[in-house]
Amino acid sequence: METSINPRRHAALLLFLLLVSSAAAAVSAGMHVVGDKKHWAPDVNYTEWAAGEHFYLHDWLVFYYPEGYYNVIQVNETNYERCSEENPINKYAKGRSYAMQLNETGRYYFISGGGYCWNGMELSINVEPLPAPAPAPVPPSKSSAARRSGIWSAAAVVGFAAFVLGV
Ligand SMILES: *[C@@H]1O[C@H](CO)[C@@H](O)[C@H](O)[C@H]1NC(C)=O
Ligand SMILES: *[C@@H]1O[C@H](CO)[C@@H](O)[C@H](O)[C@H]1NC(C)=O
Ligand SMILES: *[C@@H]1O[C@H](CO)[C@@H](O)[C@H](O)[C@H]1NC(C)=O
Repeated sequence: METSINPRRHAALLLFLLLVSSAAAAVSAGMHVVGDKKHWAPDVNYTEWAAGEHFYLHDWLVFYYPEGYYNVIQVNETNYERCSEENPINKYAKGRSYAMQLNETGRYYFISGGGYCWNGMELSINVEPLPAPAPAPVPPSKSSAARRSGIWSAAAVVGFAAFVLGV
């Protein structure tokens, strides 16, 4: 019995690793970490950050912040523009993170209290309906095309790995 690594087995293993990573990418597609690595903090331009994202219905918005410093206050448009904490829609101040699911289409507005809104801690996002699955009336956006190609490449990897393993 040969003990050296079978190159076909080796290739199949690599393909499975690839499958796992692409499946993970497909799952995390609907999650948006506010500010990416800069998190929810002063002196980040959240208008620029939001412009690089596509928010779809049922996606998740996640805020990370140092405990006790900043908070997340959902407000209406007027109070967003005024950096006003009056009559908030929702307010989250506990712990170090807050995750919310975007269950409605349209605009959401968030600010931080404690005066940090004036230091740039204000975020406005637009939540879009899910892109149509079948032939779309408009050309698909970059990110939805990427999602689809991710799913297709994962399917191709499963098929090919099954073929190599002779399943
Ligand atoms: C954030 O970036 C946008 C787009 O580049 C720009 O128009 C805006 O003035 C910036 N905001 C601040 C507070 O720098
Ligand atoms: C937002 O709420 C304030 C009260 O805090 C109200 O005066 C204002 O009209 C509201 N704005 C919108 C766009 O609903
Ligand atoms: C969004 O919808 C989910 C499932 O329908 C529900 O569990 C969750 O509480 C909703 N979140 C908000 C912020 O309304």
